[in-house]
Amino acid sequence: MTLLLHRGQPVGDEGALLRALTSLDRIIDEDLAVTHRVLHADMFYRMATDIVGDDRWLSRRYLHPAAKAFKDWKDHNSLRDRDPVIALLTTLTHEIYTHGEVEFILPLFRRWLAEDYGFSDASIRQTLGWISVHTGPTEKNHFFHALSALEHFADAMDVAIADYALDEIVGQYLEKKAAVLEHICLQDAVEVEAVH
Ligand SMILES: [Fe+2]
Ligand SMILES: [Fe+2]
Repeated sequence: MTLLLHRGQPVGDEGALLRALTSLDRIIDEDLAVTHRVLHADMFYRMATDIVGDDRWLSRRYLHPAAKAFKDWKDHNSLRDRDPVIALLTTLTHEIYTHGEVEFILPLFRRWLAEDYGFSDASIRQTLGWISVHTGPTEKNHFFHALSALEHFADAMDVAIADYALDEIVGQYLEKKAAVLEHICLQDAVEVEAVH
């Protein structure tokens, strides 16, 4: 979106484009610890490493093709599609999905670490910091920032959002995410079978 200005491409309302960019940056602030002290990537590292026991999970050899396909699709839509509306609709889809996901998984992860791993309450709190920091208003507000970015961008460029097939983007997001989660469930089932 800044490239539109940088390249001197025609923008209907530059003020509205600036408001769109301002809304989008409110999502980035939190992930990059502009408004909080800890990088979200560091919180994720701690969660995964505490659960796995070391940080070998970072190795690309564990990168499942379904996870790569999901990330490639999302990066293409968000960063490389020539139409910024596709990026904004993909961000909107992502923020509302992750809002639901973190709320859903937090109690499950708490129970999992307590019952299967014997983690204390204090270590559960620390280990699951990445999930809990995204619950409550955080991801919900990201969704509303994404929504206002989209609305401001539509004003700036005079585009009709209703002409876009949002259901296709949501459908592809869910299909590709489901393929990743199915693989994790399958692994789990295989491991359980091997144990018994
Ligand atoms: Fe985050
Ligand atoms: Fe978010």
